[in-house]
Amino acid sequence: MKLTITNLSAHLADRQILKDVSLSLLTGKVYALMGPNGSGKSTLAQIIMGNPAYEIPNPKSQIQINKKNILSMKPDERARQGIFLAFQNPITVPGVSVGNLLKTAYQSIHGKKPKGNGVVANPALSVWEFNTLLVEKAKNLGIPQEFLGRAVNDNFSGGEKKKLEMLQALTLKPKFALFDEIDTGLDVDALQTVARTIMDLKRQGTGVLIITHYQRILKYVKPDFVHVLVNGSIVASGGYTLAKDIEKNGYKKFIGNHSKN
Ligand SMILES: Nc1ncnc2c1ncn2[C@@H]1O[C@H](COP(=O)(O)OP(=O)(O)OP(=O)(O)O)[C@@H](O)[C@H]1O
Ligand SMILES: [Mg+2]
Repeated sequence: MKLTITNLSAHLADRQILKDVSLSLLTGKVYALMGPNGSGKSTLAQIIMGNPAYEIPNPKSQIQINKKNILSMKPDERARQGIFLAFQNPITVPGVSVGNLLKTAYQSIHGKKPKGNGVVANPALSVWEFNTLLVEKAKNLGIPQEFLGRAVNDNFSGGEKKKLEMLQALTLKPKFALFDEIDTGLDVDALQTVARTIMDLKRQGTGVLIITHYQRILKYVKPDFVHVLVNGSIVASGGYTLAKDIEKNGYKKFIGNHSKN
């Protein structure tokens, strides 16, 4: 499957944040998106997931899965189409346990959609089957079982929040997973666990977009493609060596022609 972004321009209030971005992701491949602070990386991920805060004024802007246009779909519908986003700053959800959140998300993504306005989907797995799946995936990530009963991200450490995002991706089995700075604040062991999980996702056929500032994670997860976003435009695309070049030389040579408006 292919997720295709074509001529995507996005505005917020009067400011243009993305300019004519075209990019495609294939299932089973890993992509890295790099770029200076404020260049629009998180915005791009948010728009792929369907955050309605941004205006997309150009009628030529498109986001498609295979040939199906998903730009008018709400985030929950996009999740059902197989898109997953791990937020740069995951939010706390008091009163909702990790286990319950994931069970609800899993059933609403993989269960049969109910007719009318019903919210209860036909479950894709029984409660027991789901719990077995969840406990197994948590174990793979080294997440203690008691975490599954805690409220989502409530008093979780920075690294624990990132692992929890990985647990969501592993459990929900998306077609396309977008990880926004999943590597920030991780110790060496956690970084390797996250990298291994991304490789597992790739092997099971997920297309992965890693938004990152560092080559560190890319040493463990060699990306198939690297894209560089500067001031809302893709200014360079290449392989792993592009990431190494950026680590060494920074973004100087890409800036200049793409001054802020
Ligand atoms: N909801 C919003 N309200 C106000 N400004 C926003 C909003 N979303 C994005 N922006 C602005 O758009 C620009 C791009 O932001 P974005 O978060 O996409 O950058 P980024 O490339 O992810 O940066 P970083 O590497 O620091 O995470 C920034 O100048 C940011 O302040
Ligand atoms: Mg960001």
